[in-house]
Amino acid sequence: MLKPILMLALMWGIMPSFAADSAEVRPDLVKPRASLPIQLIKVPAPNPGEYFIPPYVADIPEDKYGAVVEWGRKIFTDTQTYGKRFVGNGLNCSSCHLSEGREPFSGPIWAAYPSYPDYRTKTRNVVTYEERVQDCFKYSLDGIAPTIDAPEMEALVAYSHWLSTGAPTNTHLPGRGFGSVKKPQEAQAERGKDTYMSHCSQCHGTDGLGKKHPDGRYMFPPLWGKDSFNRAAGMTKAKTMAQFIRANMPLGAPFSLSEQEAWDIAMYIWIQDRPYDPRKSLFVNMFIPVTPGQH
Ligand code: HEC
Ligand code: HEC
Repeated sequence: MLKPILMLALMWGIMPSFAADSAEVRPDLVKPRASLPIQLIKVPAPNPGEYFIPPYVADIPEDKYGAVVEWGRKIFTDTQTYGKRFVGNGLNCSSCHLSEGREPFSGPIWAAYPSYPDYRTKTRNVVTYEERVQDCFKYSLDGIAPTIDAPEMEALVAYSHWLSTGAPTNTHLPGRGFGSVKKPQEAQAERGKDTYMSHCSQCHGTDGLGKKHPDGRYMFPPLWGKDSFNRAAGMTKAKTMAQFIRANMPLGAPFSLSEQEAWDIAMYIWIQDRPYDPRKSLFVNMFIPVTPGQH
């Protein structure tokens, strides 16, 4: 007697709907499940529910595709271990693409993946998703580009594909990239230093070099110095840095700084030393100054 009732109940109300439909508002899924790692339990800053919600980690299928997705997730969140042969600095993909690449305005992967192939002004051509990922390896991770058929690349693509389950292709999803920040009259590194010391240094260090776990990996990633992204990375552009800061930092308090403060800190970070632009000769790197707008 009990069994059929239970089954009916299951079929009716309690059946969770896993099917990820497109960017529509789904309040029932806005609150992440308890199965998520703790750092994911963060609702996007303005208007929760307005953004595409990628599937949950617990829903990675238990088949061969799922195994590669899971591996790609590991490479993304712990590039230091699982993608080490291609990485030259101390960062992971998720150091900048927060919450495993899920966070709106943190270069979310579910908004990126369905947008490629896309035209890039940086390279002045249409690039594929794999080529875009290669760039983050070369510049953001100051390393070398995995080939398109490298197992690590295939796993990262599988993870990105899975995170985008149900997302529409070739449209600009809200939350893509890092948001917009108007350039103030003038951005001042001097003022930025003060704000940095009061809002950022407790985690990233007064010297900006980050803080490490006893095992040598970073708990708080470096913002400059030899273990940081290089001069050709997107983050080197003061505007992109200002956007990232405003939408994501201090960690746990997104959109708490003013646009002016974000720009000032971005300028302070911009004047620091970091690995050279690998596309240029040593001479050019050492003696020809770049402007905060270039990368
Ligand atoms: C130092 C910070 C940083 C790290 C580390 C980093 N990225 Fe990025 N990534 C960025 C920035 C900044 C952009 C946007 C740059 C731009 O287009 O101006 C970006 C863009 C992207 C895009 C395109 C996003 C879009 O909407 O078109 C993808 C895909 C991507 N990164 C994947 C990765 C992967 C995979 C890794 C690890 C292998 C990684 N990134 C590591 C900062 C980083
Ligand atoms: C509570 C600690 C904390 C505070 C405060 C904080 N951050 Fe971060 N920040 C982090 C962590 C942790 C990450 C990496 C995220 C991850 O790995 O999940 C990060 C990542 C970053 C990154 C991208 C990765 C890199 O190394 O380049 C930048 C840039 C950054 N923070 C800048 C700032 C700035 C600027 C401030 C002050 C406005 C700030 N952070 C305040 C913890 C913090």
